Amino acid sequence: MPDVIAYGGDWNPEQWPEETWEQDVALMREAGVNRVSVGVFSWSLLEPAEGVFDFGWFDRVMDLLAANGIAANLATPTASPPPWFGDAYPEALPLDSAGRRLHHGSRQGFCPSSPIYREKALRVTEQVATRYRDHPALALWHVHNEYGCHNAHCYCDTSAAAFRAWLRSHYASLEALNDAWGTAFWSQHYGEWAQILPPRDTPSFTNPGQQLDFRRFSSDALVELYIAERDLLRELTPGVPATTNLMAGAHWDMDCWAFAAELDVVSTDHYLIGARAEPHIDLAFAADYARSLNGGRPWLLMEHSTSAVNWQPRNRAKAPGELRRNSLAHLARGADAIMFFQWRAARAGAEKWHSAMLPHAGVGTKVWREVSALGAELAGLAEVAGSRVNADVAILVDHSSVWAQDHPAQPSSELDPVEEAKRWHAALWRAGITCDLAHPEGDLTGYRLVLVPALYLVSDSGAANLERFVRAGGVTLVGPYSGIVDEHDRVRLGGYPGAWRDLLGVTVEEFFPLDGPIRLASGGSGSVWSEVAHATSAKVLDTYATGEPAWTRNVWGDGAAHYLTTRLDDDALAEVIATVCAEAEARPPATSPPGVEVVRRSHPDGRSHLFAINHTAGDAVVTTASGESVTVAAGDVRVISG
Ligand code: GAL
Repeated sequence: MPDVIAYGGDWNPEQWPEETWEQDVALMREAGVNRVSVGVFSWSLLEPAEGVFDFGWFDRVMDLLAANGIAANLATPTASPPPWFGDAYPEALPLDSAGRRLHHGSRQGFCPSSPIYREKALRVTEQVATRYRDHPALALWHVHNEYGCHNAHCYCDTSAAAFRAWLRSHYASLEALNDAWGTAFWSQHYGEWAQILPPRDTPSFTNPGQQLDFRRFSSDALVELYIAERDLLRELTPGVPATTNLMAGAHWDMDCWAFAAELDVVSTDHYLIGARAEPHIDLAFAADYARSLNGGRPWLLMEHSTSAVNWQPRNRAKAPGELRRNSLAHLARGADAIMFFQWRAARAGAEKWHSAMLPHAGVGTKVWREVSALGAELAGLAEVAGSRVNADVAILVDHSSVWAQDHPAQPSSELDPVEEAKRWHAALWRAGITCDLAHPEGDLTGYRLVLVPALYLVSDSGAANLERFVRAGGVTLVGPYSGIVDEHDRVRLGGYPGAWRDLLGVTVEEFFPLDGPIRLASGGSGSVWSEVAHATSAKVLDTYATGEPAWTRNVWGDGAAHYLTTRLDDDALAEVIATVCAEAEARPPATSPPGVEVVRRSHPDGRSHLFAINHTAGDAVVTTASGESVTVAAGDVRVISG
């Protein structure tokens, strides 16, 4: 178990003359930095020409870190192939769905299925690993950077061939594929494997099964690239753990569950989206997701920002105290590392307007003062490291389902599964109840309540998993348009939701997307979506004006399964979620007023820390489980041990 919280950020000394490096590490020490990620975008300087390596400058970077007691997340620099790569191997650059070849000059300019990219990436990885395998600064391998952030889908001929190979390994025969994709429709029957293409631009909708499998294939291709580098690193440095920074909760093109299964420790990045009304709730979703991906164990926040980012339409700077609240919210939800992009604000390049730990204006700044204060505070919170967050509630999320529902030919494009998952999570956040995220086929046995906000696609085993959970005494709440199709995006027949008609005691004959809000008998309202449903064995708890069911509850084994046939407004949803939490006896770790986040981290020996984070402009009183009242000042965070 670690005995410190790792603190620091991406250090890119290559952006600066060497004279600044000593000052950098001196300031790092002043700010309490004990960990930096290095080499993330250094490929073009480590290998300035193909096969020509220059490690002299990087040796000095690593030595400087070791001499100052700062540990390195040493990156394999493979997220940004140098210009020579694109020049020499233009066929390895990505091709978009319209057949346009993208050029080098940015980053992640490579086709994930390109053998030549893989060869060059593994060669530079081998060079880095061989050179620094015994270096005292090396603590963790930071493989690549945000796989698939910019190049998740490539439609070139190499990708097409790899896609066909993937399909052959997943389908016993071409006929099985034709059946899964429903190619009898629109005369798409394939007579030869070679006829199958990635879903390039077509006159109308592409085949949904083809699109879904292409997204699965594309995610797998990135996971495979990770595995190739990781295996090489394991061979060369067997004792050094490896990770790659995911974008959990933000980018849905990469299957985080599949990635997480291959990581020695889960790490992720998170950036506030300024356009969101309460971006700190989105932060909590990402943090809960990261913890769940790591099986509940502590995870690493590899990047967030000290203040503004530079890639949104309007890049809001953080208010005083917001950096601390954000960082401690990640810590509360299980992070054992609090890191930023990046250490020193860049003078040039595409991210020169992105905030950093050391701003352009230097040390006499709000950001620097807050960064230094946070470093000292985290050092004082070392006892938190290694402790866990225990949740009684889980929300099911699955990338395949999101991808399938992403096909444009749906009953309504307005029912967004990711936004629904986040809205249901937000309702729990407001109720002070910590939750995990879980894969539909994952282990649900430890939970009291499982929420299924939007799971359009579910496999047979996922469907059975939820049934088992409820039969054994669990409570579930299932949202509309869930359990509709099988793993190939084929409709489950006989009345919706085919996967869970019996569990829910409901059968739906038709969907009725809505133009505007619709009133319910309870006084609440729904919007976007409604269904014509019949309760077969369920009790009806709320109805539309027509008397048809809007909310039902069915007893199943020792548990109960609730169902919603509409997208409830936030208040009505909060009430339903409060009802199912009460039924499942899921409770917050403390009583807190609205806008005050409370989360507990506990050690197995009983030591624990309650985090109370006041996101409001007024002082607030939190009452702990033992009845103690604690005042948390406006915008403040209190960490209460006990
Ligand atoms: C991340 C990326 C960093 C930096 C950052 C800016 O997606 O990993 O390299 O670009 O965003 O917010």
